Amino acid sequence: MKDALRLLRLMAPHAGWMGLAVLVSALATLAHIALMATSGWFIAAMALAGAAGASVNYFTPSAAIRAYAVVRTVGRYGERIVGHEATLKFVAALRPWFFARLIPLAPAALEDQRSGDLLARLKGDIDRLEFAFLRILSPGLAAVLVLAVGLSVLALHDGGMAVGIGLAALLAGLGLPLLVHRLGARASREVTAGTAQLNALLVDHLEGRAELDIYDPDRRHRAALDETSDTLIAREHRLAGILGFAGAGVGLFAQSSLVLVLLIGAPRVLAGTLPGADLPMLALLALSLFEAVAPLPLAFQTLPATLASARRIFDLIDRPPPVEEPAAPKPVSEVGTLAFAHAGLTYPGASGPALTDIDLVLAPGRRIGVVGSSGSGKSSLVALALRFRAPAPGEVTFAGSSIADFNSDDLRRRMAVLAQHDHLFAATIRENLLVADPDASPEKLEAALERAGVLTFVVAQPEGLDTFLGANGAKVSGGQARRLGLARALLKEAPILILDEPTEGLDGETERDVLEGVLGATRDQALLFITHRRAGLEAMDEIIVMDGGRIVARGAPADMLAIVGPGMMGPGTIGSETISGGIPEDTARSAGSGQGLEQAPP
Ligand SMILES: Nc1ncnc2c1ncn2[C@@H]1O[C@H](COP(=O)(O)OP(=O)(O)OP(=O)(O)O)[C@@H](O)[C@H]1O
Ligand SMILES: [Mg+2]
Repeated sequence: MKDALRLLRLMAPHAGWMGLAVLVSALATLAHIALMATSGWFIAAMALAGAAGASVNYFTPSAAIRAYAVVRTVGRYGERIVGHEATLKFVAALRPWFFARLIPLAPAALEDQRSGDLLARLKGDIDRLEFAFLRILSPGLAAVLVLAVGLSVLALHDGGMAVGIGLAALLAGLGLPLLVHRLGARASREVTAGTAQLNALLVDHLEGRAELDIYDPDRRHRAALDETSDTLIAREHRLAGILGFAGAGVGLFAQSSLVLVLLIGAPRVLAGTLPGADLPMLALLALSLFEAVAPLPLAFQTLPATLASARRIFDLIDRPPPVEEPAAPKPVSEVGTLAFAHAGLTYPGASGPALTDIDLVLAPGRRIGVVGSSGSGKSSLVALALRFRAPAPGEVTFAGSSIADFNSDDLRRRMAVLAQHDHLFAATIRENLLVADPDASPEKLEAALERAGVLTFVVAQPEGLDTFLGANGAKVSGGQARRLGLARALLKEAPILILDEPTEGLDGETERDVLEGVLGATRDQALLFITHRRAGLEAMDEIIVMDGGRIVARGAPADMLAIVGPGMMGPGTIGSETISGGIPEDTARSAGSGQGLEQAPP
């Protein structure tokens, strides 16, 4: 009920168009009823007059019949035009409304969403809300209007008849639909959930094609997909069956109404209290009145699926945003020091904090290297710096102000980032680069590619910068994708540059070349350089070592490189690239960790 009211509130701005659509629809149905009734009367009156040898004015009724026919045709056309206009206006506003509420949630609050399910909400669920007006509200309101007029006309001729037909219309227009609703509500809701599940499975299936080929030769995933699809088809089958039954029911009530009119009216005609030609008129009026009632079973059947879709949309946008935007954001200075003060972070639902008591000062032009084993919290620092998450306790400041006082977009203008899971768009290399600087000249693009060590590869491609990368860089190697992401980060002229494992996937020689290019070109930028490897660390002003979400050691590269062991660097380090030695236990303890730090093998 709450969801229904909320949905109605969303429709409120379009009440004008929607009201007009309902009126036009009611008018078209009334014209149809009038046409039927007048025709019945006209034919009977002509026959009776012929039999009695009396003359009759047939100009007026035949003109009326023509008028009703025109109104009905134009009305049906208008009903579609206005009805769709109202729906399109509603949906056109709904999608941006939903999107605007989704954006602040991304990425942090949408991490648990399967991409297929998210797509289903964006597309399927929003589309289903169209029905809220076209299939439910509009036919419902139009039926009320039509029944009110039709039954009043009946009542003018015969009160009992009006009551009888009213009762039949109530049973067909409310009783049957309620029965349909009761029989099919679960199936209807399951269609919404099943469609989303099928979507999610399908996207997973396509994205995980290679893994499934390797790990799932028995096609269990495919079987799950088929089962979901079969269940969905069975539900829809059931709904169609129920609807067919309801359609027959409405027909039965309509035909019975005709019989009822004859049963009540015939004795009155014989008694002379009802003109003979009025009887077929009333009978056809009663019969065609059910035209307004016929769409109601479908309306009631669609209702649970529509409300389930509304629920899924409201559920998503009602999530608390991971960070609140300030009502009156402060302007962000061009340059400034990024500082963490006693910053902590606990992910929702996590058993413990991912970061504890982080103090870090990244002054303009300064370079800080961050090392630590996998899961020690390095990338979580990036999430705090970019304000994808808010620190608790503690704070992160830029140029002396808490970053919570800034508009997040303004803050992020000051930062260029190569994320650990950097996303390459399914577009060309050029388009992927221009995301960072839409006005960059081809020369500037090439310079960035050169520094990232990937220009040779790009120019060797037949289409050069216009090479299409495929979905998430599928058409280039892991190392090439990494360097293209790096080139994009270098293109953005921001005072702060954050690189989260920029050389992941590169061989030692390429790594050295790339880091040389990057470090040489970014002398003016403050750099937060997260790495598992030794290369590049010697050029840092400070190195911090993380473990278990804490900074357990910090100092100049010369000191840190001497004490940090492979355990701190995590897996994936090789040969001479690995930092040798281990943190002596006393260093670790004095740095406040106390947790089991790995020692280098003797
Ligand atoms: N979005 C998230 N939701 C919940 N927990 C998370 C999330 N991201 C990271 N974590 C958890 O926080 C801890 C720190 O993760 P983080 O990604 O910061 O580590 P990392 O040092 O960058 O590791 P790696 O070297 O493997 O990239 C881990 O225990 C991880 O499981
Ligand atoms: Mg990481």
